[in-house]
Amino acid sequence: MNSSNNEREALTHLELVLRQVRMEANGINSFEFVDPEGHDLPAFTAGAHIDVHIAPGLVRQYSLCNSPSERHRYVVAVLRDEAGRGGSRGMHESMRVPNRVKVSVPRNNFLLAGDAAKVILLAGGIGVTPLKSMVHQLEAESKDFELHYCAKGPEFAAFQSELERMAKTGKVHCHFDGGDPAKGLNIAQLLQTPEVGTHVYYCGPGGFMEACKQAAAHWPADTVHCEHFKAPVQKATAGSSGTAEGYIVELAASGQKLTVLPDQNLAEVLQKAGAPVETSCASGLCGTCKVRHLSGEIDHQDFILDDTERQSFMTPCVSRGCGGTLVLDL
Ligand code: FES
Repeated sequence: MNSSNNEREALTHLELVLRQVRMEANGINSFEFVDPEGHDLPAFTAGAHIDVHIAPGLVRQYSLCNSPSERHRYVVAVLRDEAGRGGSRGMHESMRVPNRVKVSVPRNNFLLAGDAAKVILLAGGIGVTPLKSMVHQLEAESKDFELHYCAKGPEFAAFQSELERMAKTGKVHCHFDGGDPAKGLNIAQLLQTPEVGTHVYYCGPGGFMEACKQAAAHWPADTVHCEHFKAPVQKATAGSSGTAEGYIVELAASGQKLTVLPDQNLAEVLQKAGAPVETSCASGLCGTCKVRHLSGEIDHQDFILDDTERQSFMTPCVSRGCGGTLVLDL
C-alpha cells in the first residue's frame, strides 16, 4: 500500500478494513471502513458514494452517510433486500470484521448546490443515507435546511439516536406512517409553493421517488435533485427508432466501426473491442460509464443524467443508439 496521502489521492480503489458492523434498525446494518494503517482516506463531499466489492463479480454502490469532515472512515448503511439482486444479502452475510474489502474512491453524482439559500431534504427509508451526510455538511456550514425522514416506524428508521439529537435543532422531522403512505408526510403540501433559492433533494424507494417527483414538478428543474438507489421499473421503449435493426457505433479516435445488434449491450460491445469504458452499477445509476457522444440519435435509459448532460453524454451500460451511426468520443 502507498503510504503518502498524495499518492493515495491518485488511486481509484482502496483496500480498507471493515472495522465495525452495527445494527441501525430492522434489516439495516451500517458498515465502517478504515485504512489498515490508520491513514486519512480520500476526502468526499455530501452525497458521494463508493463501490464496494462484496465478492468476486459482485460490486455495489452505497452512499456514504457519515460526515464529510471525517477523514478516518467511510460509513455506508445497507437495507437487506431479500428480493434484490444479491448485493445487500452479500453485505449482510459475508462482511465480517476485520475483513479486508476493496472499495472505490468516492464519487459524487448528488452534489449539494453551493448557492442554495435553503435546502429541503426528503428521505424515504434507507434513502436517508446520502441525505444524512448532507445534514452533517449543512450543519457544519450553518446553512438553513430541513430533513424530512419518512419510514414505517421508529424500528425501521436507521440512525435513530443521531437523528433524535438533530431533531432537537428543529430541523429534522421524522414521519412514521405504519406502512400506509397516506398517513405519512404530505409531500405535495410541503412542496406546494416553490421558494426562490431553495433546493430540494430526495432519495428513497420507487413509490416515494415518484411522489417527490410529482410534488416537485412545478419547481424550477435546476433546484430539484434526486438519486435512485435502485433502477425504477424500466421506462417503456416502444417507439425507440432503429433498435430493432441494431446500429453502428464509431470510435472517434481511431475511426473503428462496431456493429451493435439489437440484443447487445453497448458497454459490453465497447469493452470487447478494447474501448476504455468502465462499468460499475450496469443499471444507469452511477455514471461510471459516462461517455461523450459526438453525433447520432440516442435512446437514453439512465437515471442519472439530466437533459443538459444528455446533450453531450450517454451511459452505454443501459443507453443505446437509435439506428444509423453513433459516434462516441473514444
Ligand atoms: S455503469 Fe453505472 S451508469 Fe453505467
